[in-house]
Amino acid sequence: MKIFLDTARIDEVKQWVDTGLVDGITTNPSHLSTQGNQPTQIIAQLSQLLPNKPISVQVTEHEPEAVYKQAHAIARLGSSIVVKIPCKREYYSIIRRLVEEGILVNVTLVFTLEQSLFMCKLGAHYISPFIGRWDDLDVDGSQILYRIRAMIDTYHYNTQLLAASLRHMRHLHAAITARVDIVTLPVTLLEQATAHLLTDAGDKKFTQDWQKLSGAIFP
Ligand code: E4P
Repeated sequence: MKIFLDTARIDEVKQWVDTGLVDGITTNPSHLSTQGNQPTQIIAQLSQLLPNKPISVQVTEHEPEAVYKQAHAIARLGSSIVVKIPCKREYYSIIRRLVEEGILVNVTLVFTLEQSLFMCKLGAHYISPFIGRWDDLDVDGSQILYRIRAMIDTYHYNTQLLAASLRHMRHLHAAITARVDIVTLPVTLLEQATAHLLTDAGDKKFTQDWQKLSGAIFP
């Protein structure tokens, strides 16, 4: 399973890149809007930090032909740039064309099994079901991951299942057990997932016990 960072913050990516855990990045207009008014430069910097790893960048246009042109412009930012397109009916033919032209497409804002099936049929490289935003409506969002996994496996689609909008450890746990291909995580969640009280307490206890051996040379 791959792990992407869900951020446009250079400092966050720098902080995690050396751990070897980070396989890519997903940005979105909300993330980029917090990082100043040079989004193209931010994408270039992110690409330098993670060369050859997929970085999703979302279109911001709305009219379909403008979305299509912008998608090509975004793809030209780098060979590992993935263009994120919202899962809206008016963009279906755009998605199909982009896929046929070899553009890597991540269909974002996916909420249902049916939307997922349609995007698999169009040949999207990634689909991003948003789990936390279902939870915001008091619906258990993680259940969709199991259904999408089964659908992709049943029909042998090549689309990668990318679990997005993960906000809690419970979401991450569900994504792993649902056998998603990729999770995209906010850094706060990755921090939480890499720490454990009992690991820290155990490490402290081993250190204290070891200190009882005064002067031992080891090994
Ligand atoms: C994924 O591609 C999105 O950028 C992200 O996961 C959205 O998360 P949110 O619903 O917490 O904003």
